Amino acid sequence: MNGLPVDHIALATPDLEEAIPLYERITGARSSPIEELPAQGVRVAFVGVLELLEPLSPDSTVARFLEKQGPGLHHIAYRTADIRFELRRLESQGFELIDSEPRPGAGGHLVAFLHPRSTGKVLIELVQVNHGAP
Ligand code: CO
Repeated sequence: MNGLPVDHIALATPDLEEAIPLYERITGARSSPIEELPAQGVRVAFVGVLELLEPLSPDSTVARFLEKQGPGLHHIAYRTADIRFELRRLESQGFELIDSEPRPGAGGHLVAFLHPRSTGKVLIELVQVNHGAP
């Protein structure tokens, strides 16, 4: 393996019920069940490698993202076996961390974000897959 593999690519959408069948038709993949993550202010569904994000409330960060940029690419997530190690490594290289400690994300995995200010304007997520998750 050459570097961290992509875990998923996230798209922001105002309407999961519209986005899910669209990407099911494009990819032939079946959507995961919709998951609500109140702590992150989103409803989430996975269609293959795509994570589709709909804001739960008008004041969530994804709602503000949609207002400013419209639907589309929201973040790229890389998978790591040791998220705390990667956070320290990236911080020591000058990247700005949104989460200095990982927190629970979709599917019960540990996640942390890097600030787009330090990553060429694209929000970057790190994911440590919890193999014990349902
Ligand atoms: Co994500």
